[in-house]
Amino acid sequence: MIPDILAAGPVMPVIIIEHADDAVPLAEALLAGGIRTAEITLRTPSALAAIEQIASGCPDMLVGAGTITSAEQAQQVKDAGGVFGVSPGSTEALIDGCNKSGLPMLYGAQTLSEMMALAEKGYHQMKFFPASAAGGIDFLKSVHSPMPHLRFCPTGGINQQNAAEWLSLPHIVCVGGSWLAPADLITSHAFAEITKRAQAASNLRRSD
Ligand code: 3PG
Repeated sequence: MIPDILAAGPVMPVIIIEHADDAVPLAEALLAGGIRTAEITLRTPSALAAIEQIASGCPDMLVGAGTITSAEQAQQVKDAGGVFGVSPGSTEALIDGCNKSGLPMLYGAQTLSEMMALAEKGYHQMKFFPASAAGGIDFLKSVHSPMPHLRFCPTGGINQQNAAEWLSLPHIVCVGGSWLAPADLITSHAFAEITKRAQAASNLRRSD
């Protein structure tokens, strides 16, 4: 399931949403621009309701949750109709708990040891976070030779200008970022601008 989510497009939008009523128009704006996944971060009180509204109102959108840091949140996301979860990191307790909920998870890693620990558990696709601050493209390039079996979705500091460079690396399946649908564009209902940004993002190409 996570491989399918990551293969759905070159960019996974990372979304901070203040009002659940904006969720369906937002999802429709992204879909109109060719973006078929949405990571709604659990950083606002309305995030779960937003996931629920997209899951029931936009069947073409693969909606999931970001910033999952507890097993309880993973269960709430599943109950809301989310089809995947993303965490900035990974702990034993989080992985055990999320496995119980059955929500497919994309875990975050920053160091080689964290990446190896996830691979030991069978997770060969992971989020590299915070991508720019944690070493950027040079760091992730260096990981490929010793760990050629790992695949990444880097997130943090990526935008329309530098996304193509990240996507040119052979072990990057997609990138994540908030630039497509930043909170201010959502709250001001600038959905045409979001569609424009989604269109530009979905036209980016992976190396393969
Ligand atoms: C985040 O956690 O907010 C995401 O990684 C998005 O980062 P960005 O705002 O730099 O795209």
